[in-house]
Amino acid sequence: MATTPEAEVDGAWDVPALLRSLTIEQKVALLDGADFWSTEPLRDHDVPSIMLTDGPHGLRKQRTGGDHLGLADSVPATCFPTASGLASSWNVDLLGEVGRALGVECRAEDVAVLLGPGVNMKRTPLCGRNFEYFAEDPLLAGHLAAALVRGVQAHGVGTSVKHFAVNNQETERLTISAEVDERTLREIYLPAFEHVVRDARPWTVMCSYNRINGVYASENRWLLTELLREEWGFDGVVVSDWGAVNVRDESLLAGLDLEMPSSGGTGGEVILNAYRAGTLREQDIDVAAERVLRLIERTSSAPEAPEFDAERHHALAERAAIESAVLLKNDTDVLPLRPESTKVAVLGELARTPRYQGAGSSLVTPTRLDDALSALNSAGFAELRFAPGYEIEADAADPDLVAEAVRRAADADVAVLFLGLPPTAESEGYDRDHLSLPAHQLQLLREVAAVNEHVVVVLAGGAVVTVDEWQRHATAILQGWLPGQAGGSALAALLIGAANPSGRLAETIPVRGAHAPALGAGEHGVVRYGEGLLIGYRWYDAHELPVSHAFGEGLSYTTFDYTELDVAVLEDGPRPRVAVSLTVTNTGARDGQEVVQLYVADPACSVFRPEQELKAFTKVALRPGESSRVTLELDQRAFAYWNTPLGRWIVEGGEFELRAAASSRDVRLAATVELAGEPISDPLTPDSELGAWLDDPVAGGLLGEALAASPMGGLVGDPQHVQMMRSFPAARLTRFPGIPITQAQLREWAQAANRARR
Ligand code: BGC
Repeated sequence: MATTPEAEVDGAWDVPALLRSLTIEQKVALLDGADFWSTEPLRDHDVPSIMLTDGPHGLRKQRTGGDHLGLADSVPATCFPTASGLASSWNVDLLGEVGRALGVECRAEDVAVLLGPGVNMKRTPLCGRNFEYFAEDPLLAGHLAAALVRGVQAHGVGTSVKHFAVNNQETERLTISAEVDERTLREIYLPAFEHVVRDARPWTVMCSYNRINGVYASENRWLLTELLREEWGFDGVVVSDWGAVNVRDESLLAGLDLEMPSSGGTGGEVILNAYRAGTLREQDIDVAAERVLRLIERTSSAPEAPEFDAERHHALAERAAIESAVLLKNDTDVLPLRPESTKVAVLGELARTPRYQGAGSSLVTPTRLDDALSALNSAGFAELRFAPGYEIEADAADPDLVAEAVRRAADADVAVLFLGLPPTAESEGYDRDHLSLPAHQLQLLREVAAVNEHVVVVLAGGAVVTVDEWQRHATAILQGWLPGQAGGSALAALLIGAANPSGRLAETIPVRGAHAPALGAGEHGVVRYGEGLLIGYRWYDAHELPVSHAFGEGLSYTTFDYTELDVAVLEDGPRPRVAVSLTVTNTGARDGQEVVQLYVADPACSVFRPEQELKAFTKVALRPGESSRVTLELDQRAFAYWNTPLGRWIVEGGEFELRAAASSRDVRLAATVELAGEPISDPLTPDSELGAWLDDPVAGGLLGEALAASPMGGLVGDPQHVQMMRSFPAARLTRFPGIPITQAQLREWAQAANRARR
């Protein structure tokens, strides 16, 4: 890779000078890919081509270009758990380590930008790509993704935070218009992107395929320029999702710099024609070309990175898989298993043939692959017998396989049954149509449970499945997600207690699919986000719906106590800061990790707010009997809502409840804090409602007096009548017979009231 373009100053490129030396055609060439994965080089100017490639949880660098679907072979790389697993670790430091490992592998393969992570919200549990996304909560997704981005970029490799924005379903993903109101955008769909951009400064952002309120993300100037760059300070390159460009000159004006993959010159032609026609200025082209040059410079001048050590990365992948798994149920403390005294039946094809990653653009060729059956075989069980029980992609039960598994279960002390979604159930490109496990697997579970009362179910899958219909047949349930190449060893370590589960759900498991928010994927090219702010636990809480397992939930082989909650207001006013401290104690007999979650509730507010929202969290490792004092800091955003008319975040003064919790439904300690916030009210106009007029000390007096003196005076004295009339805009009253008030008077009084408020 060349690193010395002709315009170089002190080792760094003089990008403005370099740009000045380019022809318009050369600048335009920089804005399009050279092929599927690389940028266009400018050989005369020593500007190299750089490679951008997938994906979020492992490097997918194809050996042979052109086959975007991942069917072509890719170089061996460490396959970490997918985002749904990594998010369940709730471990920011771990995400940083995984990021650094990904950065090292990219450097070893000369990859300049890793295309991830994906931080879209899990609006619906049915989204086919949920395995690649972190959470149903923007704070959790944003903090974890920022750590991953910082890790990758620490080794001089860029990231591409995707898919910006509001890409929450795969159905019609290239064309669907997500119709979503501004407050919901700001509070739910944008904050994870915003946090990553502000906090971790990714080198690129990938714009999504879909439309937002009718406008393609790739042509959305508000999104790509006003919000991303002007408001959040993004200084990198906006790259299209592969094939997301619709009209190239419009996307350039909106802020999309680099079209990928190569358009074969057609994108460049459109830009040049628009330039020649005068609808695009050279300056518009320069801005984007300069950003691409700066990206190439950044990635070409990175310092040496450490050597890629495949064994160490495999060990990290195992740790990540251990931290990702969530223990959902453990009746009679059946887990951990005691191998030396246990005759175990290991059942289910997924124990031998693991499902460890998702399908689509994130498909990795692992450096090696552990399976749980082999790992359990070396765990020293008194006896271990295996039966596959089913075929992974089968439509119906195979009676012989079921009978064999039942025989094995009947002879064992414990049956460990591996169940899960088949690979075809979830993928980029299409959504799931239900949340259930395959019926034949559930039939096997019932038959195994009929002959053995100790059934441990181990789940594989990138997203939640409902458990209500079957969990009574399972003594224990361990959700392993898509745990990456070391998942088999990780799950075995958890089952035998060599490791202690510490994962917590980053997405709710509803009782039934029909309880989930956001049913349906839209129609006629449009999907309406009618549930607004209420996705995930916000939805189940608001509707007081029971859930099978709550957001934030997960068991451990030890127990934790929360005590001594203290709240300190560090700063009050419009930008408050509050510190919340508590003591967490490991009250059990094993080393373990607890995830302390802090939810904020705003019980009385002039706008609708979710029942509670996650605003801080931390993961603490404690030895038996050990305590730790944990302090979580809350800033303005923890208390604010997006005020649409004012177009900014507002903390409305009053009482807030702070809930220190082990899950969204397991609050351990709570306190209230009174904050001044900032006084806000919409300016008064003649069209404001009568209620707003009467509530205002100045306007209420002026209008009240005038009404009292009018022939309608009697009515003003009647509270019920006033209540009934409160929603009338004041201006409408002037049209009523017998009301001697003019529009001009209303305008004058409104001005007086607004002056007094300042
Ligand atoms: C996916 C992206 C991916 C890109 C390149 C697209 O279809 O949506 O996530 O990075 O392909 O493979």
